[in-house]
Amino acid sequence: TILILDFGSQYSHLITRRCREHNVYAELMPCTTQLKDIDFKPKGIILSGSPYSVYEKDSPHVDSAVFDFGVPILGICYGLQEMAWQLKGTVDQSDHREYGFANLKMTKIGGSASVDALFEGLGDEMQVWMSHGDQLSAPPPDFHVIGVTATAPYAALAHDSKPFYGIQFHPEVTHSPRGKEVIGRFILNICGCQQHWTMEEFVGKEIARIREICGPTGRVIGAVSGGVDSTVAAKLMHEAIGDRFHAIMVDNGVLRLNEASQVNAMLNKDLGVNLTVVDASDLFLSRLEGVEDPEQKRKIIGNTFINVFEAKAAEIEAAAEVEETAADASKKGRVEWLLQGTLYPDVIESISFKGPSATIKTHHNVGGLLKDMKLKLIEPLRELFKDEVRALGRLLSIPAPLVQRHPFPGPGLAIRILGPVTREQVRILQLADNIYIEEIRKAGLYDQIAQAFAVLLPVRAVGVMGDARTYEQVVALRAVQTEDFMTADWYVFPPEVLKRISGRITNEVKGINRVTYDISSKPPATVEWL
Ligand code: XMP
Repeated sequence: TILILDFGSQYSHLITRRCREHNVYAELMPCTTQLKDIDFKPKGIILSGSPYSVYEKDSPHVDSAVFDFGVPILGICYGLQEMAWQLKGTVDQSDHREYGFANLKMTKIGGSASVDALFEGLGDEMQVWMSHGDQLSAPPPDFHVIGVTATAPYAALAHDSKPFYGIQFHPEVTHSPRGKEVIGRFILNICGCQQHWTMEEFVGKEIARIREICGPTGRVIGAVSGGVDSTVAAKLMHEAIGDRFHAIMVDNGVLRLNEASQVNAMLNKDLGVNLTVVDASDLFLSRLEGVEDPEQKRKIIGNTFINVFEAKAAEIEAAAEVEETAADASKKGRVEWLLQGTLYPDVIESISFKGPSATIKTHHNVGGLLKDMKLKLIEPLRELFKDEVRALGRLLSIPAPLVQRHPFPGPGLAIRILGPVTREQVRILQLADNIYIEEIRKAGLYDQIAQAFAVLLPVRAVGVMGDARTYEQVVALRAVQTEDFMTADWYVFPPEVLKRISGRITNEVKGINRVTYDISSKPPATVEWL
């Protein structure tokens, strides 16, 4: 295991990813972590970047025991400055940031180490990505330079005798094309990590862990939505404890076309998961009546979801107790656990030493359930990134179209209908969205797009049909490409595909006479319109 200590850089999770891409397990922890408190022995430590400056009053610092721990250390950007600061080098505060590409020359200046393993075999120079304010003006004692750029004379350093390295650039971002190799040199050659982290290993260990947590009788309930994460989590639970896992799908009336019945068929019949679908669409739609404000919509849907889920869970629990005939029936059949498909990026966000970052939109989750129902949380995906969840899904034989599915927000079509939500509006949007996705799939473009969906606009426009003038609604199509949904670009469709989509929507969906395509990037727009 590699321990990554996080000083709050927006790229910290990428370091974790790069390690795992080398099949080495890496865990990200806040920089304030005390080494004596962790329950594993890392083979190496990476210090991340940070938006702070080491000299600021409130800037984060690492437990100085790190430098006496006896394992290799790699400091990245702020991590390098922190290492220099703790080991008595000099960091200069600077008013201007260096941001962008730089050419790193791997020139060894001074020092006594015979090999500087960090850049071994990577040639004389490489392109790297810089993003920093401060930089070193003098290296700490016993360090020597192993790389320079035009503006940074101490762009890469190595200790003369200990396996300590520091780099000013960010090897974890894709803008440093050979950065992954640099990280590989550190974790494989310098730390000597074995490449054991594979999905097969993970599944076996995780199933064993779930069985141990749940014991021979414990029951788990969990919500499924038809999305990748909840489906993979549900299938994993089923593999581990069979029908003692109960999945609940709540039809909130703002799902995609035929979603509830399709999910039911797939999970229940194809994957064998014990699933109950609750049709609560009337309740949701009645509570949403007349509501336009998106945050209000989210709140209503989140709260109603909790109400419906709890009621169903109580039913399941009552039924389970009746089922048990053994002597200690009071102990058996209890629903003790709530499954949640939390992924690693959510975990990272909540473990950051700064606390969770500000939310721009309140994303709906089931946190409220824990308080009310006294359930304990079970999160089998909490170590995984999205693409790892997909790999896990494939390994669990979940059909490919589902594993590759675009994300769908918890509040569903309610945040894609601008204005009040009615059954009629939902129906129009479902049909338009379905045609859109169908045509994207037919054109073979689905997997190139991170998320595509239709949005129903609250305006009417004039059109002509036959000899008659129409005055109908407008639909906007959105498709984005993105790595992490923090930033996104709009997708450039071949014109003939857009033409087919628009032709079909205006012909087949009564109530729509105009189709527009959204050409806004995030930022400044968001992916969803609400
Ligand atoms: P934005 O619109 O914030 O979307 O750029 C980024 C990603 O988050 C999804 N999203 C949500 N997911 N509940 C969810 O479960 C929500 O309230 C919500 N709002 C946005 C959005 O679909 C995109 O994938």
